[in-house]
Amino acid sequence: MHSKDNQLDKISEYVKQKFSNETTGHDYFHLERVVKNANKIAIEEDANLFITMAAAWLHDIADHKLTINPKKELNELLQFLKQLGLQHSQIEAIMTIIDTTSYSKGVIPTTIEGKIVQDADRLDALGAIGIARAFAYGGSKQRTIYEPTKSTGSTIHHFYEKLLLLQDSMHTNTGRMIAAERHQYIENFLNQFYKEWEGE
Ligand code: ADP
Ligand code: NI
Repeated sequence: MHSKDNQLDKISEYVKQKFSNETTGHDYFHLERVVKNANKIAIEEDANLFITMAAAWLHDIADHKLTINPKKELNELLQFLKQLGLQHSQIEAIMTIIDTTSYSKGVIPTTIEGKIVQDADRLDALGAIGIARAFAYGGSKQRTIYEPTKSTGSTIHHFYEKLLLLQDSMHTNTGRMIAAERHQYIENFLNQFYKEWEGE
């Protein structure tokens, strides 16, 4: 009746209609990428795939950047997951992950599935995609690209305030390996950026 694949399809459709108009880098395609990253890590780490996938799709649903009413969003989601036929324990696991994933909250998830979703979310802030998202987000907040005379405030500053710190915050070995590669890509980007800035 309620096959897990079918439930995951319904969950992805649920977030798709909610995130279709998002332009600050938290759009539906961010969710797709986090799901792909999380899937890869979950297989390596032998975690519960259904919980990991469901939570990856849903992790940004109550983000204050995306909704003015996170409580309402979470209540709606609860009803939706019940209707889908998820067990109480599954719903609880997913809701806890949603509550702990965000970087800005600074929480370390207690379950392996939660750690995986947090790693997968952070990987999407690294590499080429991470660079693109940073400038998209910075632009949406009226931030400049770079201001060499200031010590904070531009998007390049954000690289030092967050992106270059992510590699050391990974929980899983698989996540750490992917992060190392994407971290190096950002370092290379910054080197090239400063060269061009100086007219070299
Ligand atoms: P979370 O949603 O996990 O709390 P953020 O909202 O801080 O994480 O980050 C989401 C994305 O937006 C990331 O790609 C991040 O680099 C980018 N971002 C967040 N803050 C800034 C900023 N001040 N300047 C540029 N990009 C930012
Ligand atoms: Ni996210």
